[in-house]
Amino acid sequence: MDQTKRSLIAVGLGPGDPELITLKGLRAIEAAELIFVPRSRDGGLSYAERIVSGYLREDQQIIRLPLPMVRNAAELVPAWENGAQAIVDAYAQFGATNGVYLLLGDPLLFGTFIYLAERIPIRDAAMQIDVIPGVTSFAATAAKANFTLATTDDRIAILPASYETDLTALKELMTHFDTVIFLKAGTVLAQLLAAVDELGLTASTIYGEKVGMPEETLVTDVSTLAGQNRPYLSLLIVRKTAES
Ligand SMILES: C[S@@+](CC[C@H](N)C(=O)[O-])C[C@H]1O[C@@H](n2cnc3c(N)ncnc32)[C@H](O)[C@@H]1O
Repeated sequence: MDQTKRSLIAVGLGPGDPELITLKGLRAIEAAELIFVPRSRDGGLSYAERIVSGYLREDQQIIRLPLPMVRNAAELVPAWENGAQAIVDAYAQFGATNGVYLLLGDPLLFGTFIYLAERIPIRDAAMQIDVIPGVTSFAATAAKANFTLATTDDRIAILPASYETDLTALKELMTHFDTVIFLKAGTVLAQLLAAVDELGLTASTIYGEKVGMPEETLVTDVSTLAGQNRPYLSLLIVRKTAES
């Protein structure tokens, strides 16, 4: 039985600005022999790879994993199984003992790493798996807009907007929380904004798209987005409580 210890660290890269990578994350990236990133759909650099491109060296092996952005379990589960296997195989192929898996924001918040990590130990019991947290997309968006997320006893909710199809339930939620963060907002933005408008919360709502990236769009007057759907990498933050 192979007794060599191997290490895989999921590093949250933050939303897109390379300067928002934590020092700990950067040190782990610099020390890694293997760099695992999701493979982009169009064959170009994935967001994760683009964010760290200035920090990588020629002697590091980049392994791009095909991880489709779909909901269909018949497609997803085999992709996660193959991804976990590809990670384990890469350590053997390159005789490596340490690697990092890079992803946007924080690894444990809707991150693909969660599905891969649970499939690795059955393939390699000697793999030590750790996580380095990252700045979340909503923290970065709030900071850019100087928008308060919560104070004192405020209640705050984080929802995957594209899975929330019931408008009535959505409105109900917005009455129970002081701040609601809608991730995965782009494809349902038009209906979300209509609901926000009906609740009279348009003036206290902000929109962030590709925040921290060169293509960043930050909108503090969301009435200008009415009727529009936008890309996947976008979010909406709705706040009810007026600042004192
Ligand atoms: C699969 S989730 C990943 C969340 C990520 N792990 C985090 O901590 O922010 C993808 C969603 O995160 C949000 N997101 C991630 N990066 C973003 C960015 N740079 N700008 C705006 N939204 C972003 C979007 O809502 C997107 O649909």
